[in-house]
Amino acid sequence: MGDLGPEVTVERAVPADAEGIVGVLAAVGAEGRYIANEGPIWSAEQQRQVILQADPHLQLILVVRAGSQVVGTLEMIRGAWHKNRHTATFGMALLPAWRGRRLGERLVREAEAWASAEGIAKISLAVFASNQPALRLYHRLGYQEEGRRYRQYRIDDQWVDEIWMAKWAPFRSPESSSP
Ligand SMILES: CC(C)(COP(=O)(O)OP(=O)(O)OC[C@H]1O[C@@H](n2cnc3c(N)ncnc32)[C@H](O)[C@@H]1OP(=O)(O)O)[C@@H](O)C(=O)NCCC(=O)NCCS
Repeated sequence: MGDLGPEVTVERAVPADAEGIVGVLAAVGAEGRYIANEGPIWSAEQQRQVILQADPHLQLILVVRAGSQVVGTLEMIRGAWHKNRHTATFGMALLPAWRGRRLGERLVREAEAWASAEGIAKISLAVFASNQPALRLYHRLGYQEEGRRYRQYRIDDQWVDEIWMAKWAPFRSPESSSP
């Protein structure tokens, strides 16, 4: 394939992706500024069990694969109760070398398609106010700020607000500007 590099796909995670997912979350966590964890959340075996035991109507775990390597992941979880089963919340992360290529958009669009198929009405997320790339992506896809927890985090010696954003069905978004 030469210059084209490996084929990049967005797919539902399978148990064999567990180690890759844990690796992505540990690496992005260790960067210390984009997601709440600061290292591994759990072991590859625990992640494998999560993938194996996930109820496919309540939980979606996606991976971005570049060739055989997992370079990104998204997890969306539907509210489990009658009170909140119309909602789903997600988080996602890409390894540094794979950012800025609209792969985040591909992940979110895939998750929105799953949410639509499951009849979910509202998708929510939380993002650090300092995370400009993520905020640009969410605004571009039509997510709106609906709340803010002031000085909820301290990152690089700065106070950082946590912004809560949401988007309501139908999850149509402006056309991507990606090639
Ligand atoms: C947030 C994240 C998932 C976005 O995915 P992405 O594929 O990089 O998103 P995009 O390619 O649409 O880029 C997002 C914006 O950042 C800009 N950007 C440029 N270079 C970038 C880089 N090296 N890294 C990140 N963003 C970059 C893009 O141009 C784009 O801005 P635009 O909409 O004005 O063009 C990804 O950057 C990431 O994993 N970040 C670290 C973890 C994280 O922040 N997770 C989300 C927590 S809420």
